[in-house]
Amino acid sequence: MLEIKQLVKEFGGLRAVDEVTFTLRAGTITGLVGPNGAGKTTLFNTIAGFYRPTSGGISFLGNRIGGLPPYRIFRQGLVRTFQIPRPFAAMTVLENTMLVPARQAGERLWNNWFDRSRVRAEERACRDRAREILAFVGLDRLSGEYARNLSGGQQKLLELARVLMADPKLILLDEPGAGVNPTLLVTIIDKLQELNARGITFLIIEHNMDLIMTLCDPILVMAQGKLILEGPPEVVRSDPRVLEAYLGGVLE
Ligand SMILES: Nc1ncnc2c1ncn2[C@@H]1O[C@H](COP(=O)(O)OP(=O)(O)OP(=O)(O)O)[C@@H](O)[C@H]1O
Ligand SMILES: [Mg+2]
Repeated sequence: MLEIKQLVKEFGGLRAVDEVTFTLRAGTITGLVGPNGAGKTTLFNTIAGFYRPTSGGISFLGNRIGGLPPYRIFRQGLVRTFQIPRPFAAMTVLENTMLVPARQAGERLWNNWFDRSRVRAEERACRDRAREILAFVGLDRLSGEYARNLSGGQQKLLELARVLMADPKLILLDEPGAGVNPTLLVTIIDKLQELNARGITFLIIEHNMDLIMTLCDPILVMAQGKLILEGPPEVVRSDPRVLEAYLGGVLE
C-alpha cells in the first residue's frame, strides 16, 4: 500500500530521516517506535507532504506521492493526525469535525445563490456523518462543546474523528496514546481495531509499549534517523538493539 525507498529528510546539516526503506501492507496495523528525536514525526511529515523529501521515493497505492502537497495526498486517502492536536479552539467539536470534507457544494460561492437546496442537503449529510463519527469515537455528548475545553485525551479522539471524515485508506497516527488515561487508552485500542477490521490500514507512532504490543504487527524501530529493525512484537521486544537505542538516547 505504501512504499518508502531510501527516504532522506535533512534539516540543514541534520539528517532527521536517513535512508529509510520499508513497505506497508494493506490491512495491517504497523507500529513505529524509537527514542525521542529518532525521526518518527519527521518521517510522518515527509510521507504526508508537510515536508519535501531531500531524496528518495514514496509511493501510495502505486502512485508516486513524494513532493506532492498535503491536500493532494489527503485526497488520495492518506491522512495523518498530529502529535499535538490542533483543533480550532473557538469552534465546537461538531463544527471542527464538519470542516474536514473538501469540495462541499457550499464552498463554491455561486451554489449559495443558485442551488440553495443542494447546499442544504449536502450540509445535512455532512452533519449526519459527523454525528455518526463522533458517536463512534465517543464524543457525541461533547459535540456542542468548544474544542478548547476538551481534555488532552478527548482532543486525540477529535483528531481521530476528523481524519475519519475523509474516508481514509491509510491513517498515520502520531502518539494516539499520549496524555490519555488507561481506561480511554483501552477504548482507543478497541476503536482502532474496529476501524482496521473495516479495512483501514494504520501506521502508529507510540511510546506506550502496551498499545504497540497489543495492536501492532509488524513493528518498525527507528533510532537517529535510521530504521534499525522491523519485525513482529515478540522479536522486537527481545532484540537487544532496541534497548540499546533507547538507552543511547537517554545517555546522550
Ligand atoms: N522543523 C524542523 N527543523 C529542524 N529540525 C527538526 C525539525 N523537526 C524535527 N527536527 C529534528 O529532527 C530530529 C527528529 O525529530 P522528530 O520530531 O522527527 O523526532 P521523533 O522521533 O518524532 O521524537 P519524539 O518521540 O520526541 O516525538 C530531531 O533532532 C529534531 O530536533
Ligand atoms: Mg514525534
